[in-house]
Amino acid sequence: MKKRTIDPAIEIDIEALQIHHNGLLEWIKEVAALCMPKNIYLCNGTKSEYNELCNKLVEKGTFIKLDEKKWPNSYACFSDKSDVARVEDKTYICSRKKEDAGPTNNWMEPSEMKGILGDLLEGSMMGRTMYVIPYSMGPVGSGISKIGIQISDSEYVVANMHIMTRVGTIVLEALGMKGEFIKCIHSSGAPLLEGEEDSTWPCNPTTKYIVHYPEERSIVSYGSGYGGNALLGKKCFALRIASVMGKEEGWLAEHMLILGVENPKGEKTYVAAAFPSACGKTNFAMLVPPKEMNGWKVSTIGDDIAWIKPGDDGYLYAINPEFGYFGVAPGTNEKTNPNAMKTMHSNSIFTNVGVTPDGDIWWEGLTKEPPADIVNWKGVKHDPKSGELVAHPNSRFTAPASQCPVIDSDWENPKGVRISALVFGGRRATTVPLVYQAFNWNFGVYLASTMGSETTAAAFGEQGKVRRDPFAMLPFCGYHMADYFNHWLQMGRNMPNAPRIFSVNWFRKDKDGNFLWPGFKDNMRVLKWIVERANGNSLAVESPIGWVPRYRDMDWTGLDFNRPQFREIMEVDREAWKAELLSHEELFARMYDKLPKEFIFMRELMLSSLWRSPEHWGLQSEVGA
Ligand code: OXD
Ligand code: MN
Repeated sequence: MKKRTIDPAIEIDIEALQIHHNGLLEWIKEVAALCMPKNIYLCNGTKSEYNELCNKLVEKGTFIKLDEKKWPNSYACFSDKSDVARVEDKTYICSRKKEDAGPTNNWMEPSEMKGILGDLLEGSMMGRTMYVIPYSMGPVGSGISKIGIQISDSEYVVANMHIMTRVGTIVLEALGMKGEFIKCIHSSGAPLLEGEEDSTWPCNPTTKYIVHYPEERSIVSYGSGYGGNALLGKKCFALRIASVMGKEEGWLAEHMLILGVENPKGEKTYVAAAFPSACGKTNFAMLVPPKEMNGWKVSTIGDDIAWIKPGDDGYLYAINPEFGYFGVAPGTNEKTNPNAMKTMHSNSIFTNVGVTPDGDIWWEGLTKEPPADIVNWKGVKHDPKSGELVAHPNSRFTAPASQCPVIDSDWENPKGVRISALVFGGRRATTVPLVYQAFNWNFGVYLASTMGSETTAAAFGEQGKVRRDPFAMLPFCGYHMADYFNHWLQMGRNMPNAPRIFSVNWFRKDKDGNFLWPGFKDNMRVLKWIVERANGNSLAVESPIGWVPRYRDMDWTGLDFNRPQFREIMEVDREAWKAELLSHEELFARMYDKLPKEFIFMRELMLSSLWRSPEHWGLQSEVGA
């Protein structure tokens, strides 16, 4: 950032903010001098502050107040058409050395990037209020939590941060006079000049940058107001920067949901699970078990991010650093996720969904047909004949986690919850069975490193183009992906009581392209086998890629799913797996310089086990048993 002193033309009494942390005060002055806002406002995190912000957004035309009966204290808004999702091609890891960012991240030399951003930020908040948002990722005061300070010129961002993180005076108190914090600058990139009319969604339609300086532990976001680009506690801090901190400090910042599974005896087991974006993480995190599975319950800790640390007892403990859910709206309904529907019922913000003139909302999949007179996310009355979508596919609800009807009683436990199983799932139409358990930690790291999703629907028998998304962290790892694999292996070496590692695939299809697995609530059947396995209470047989359940090892009460269907969804086909294992080479070759050598041996071992006769690994004969 450019070094300047505060412009005397800006008459802002920064001292009046009463900030007692000198480093923080100096930084605020520096950013104000560069961005030249009209005012500075320090957020206190109160309900009345939130309500005032929402009222201001309604006055500006950004927020539409929804019907108070249907959606109490909730708002909808439409973004700019250029600003609807995370911008991965404009997301940079500016480590000092390029090799530290690795081959899967965009990189620029930090001083070069600071030059570009300095020019863009100069005067970028003119005519606007610069909000200073002290926030905590994780319960305030927990040993696992960390503090960030986000500067933003967007009221929409402040309102969302109120829901997604713990904001305000309590955080400044926890920071004290010398505490460490992550510096986060967010500018919409839309200065408001004298006499100019403001846009309802200020952003820079052509220039966007999401930049991380891992060594400095700072973030600069320019030009976008949407989601992970602008709510900097989420992907930028809690994943990209935190993953670097985790590597240095011996813990893990992961793109994982956390849930609790309670058995009929009342014993609870916690599971963390990683899925790539848009694979139904929020649905899985809030799963409602089939009613026939009497006495089994699922409770939610988080739906997107987990910070996981080894405890003194050699187990892993996890917290959800977030305070709310920023979930994808389309496809969410009373059947797919009744708990999410209840969570977002009040005190929520809906971005880029359809809105009716009487203050109701709608998105594809909410009900069969959109209401008459619905206005689409582009702000235009929907024409059912047009074939256009009402809601943007990445439209979102922002809802307080505390409103989730199945929120876990320990979701704010500062110590975190003990994790017994780690689950990794991609979207694979072929090859990958419904569920299997890695032989051990290292094989688990291998399976997570090579997980992926088909980019196009694969025809039966042929491999679709698989995009590898290691640990579902490809867009979120703040350093070299192979160093990340090594960090995971290292964590396993130091851990006496490591969780068991599993792969799941809800998306396998038959030869006609139909999903083989009903999914949603029936995922509970797989989850039950997983937690029982993790607790040493269920059986499995050995396959070339890991341990697999037999038909009789799973609970089928209330579901018509027969042995041949199970065999089909569990099949480990020799030719398909040979191709699969060989195709891992493409990923490995990209990061060969730092790739754990164990991976090569594990792959060889799995390849050679494929050549054992099926009878030997018991698949054809035993899995259906
Ligand atoms: C998200 C994502 O928004 O993973 O959570 O893209
Ligand atoms: Mn995510």
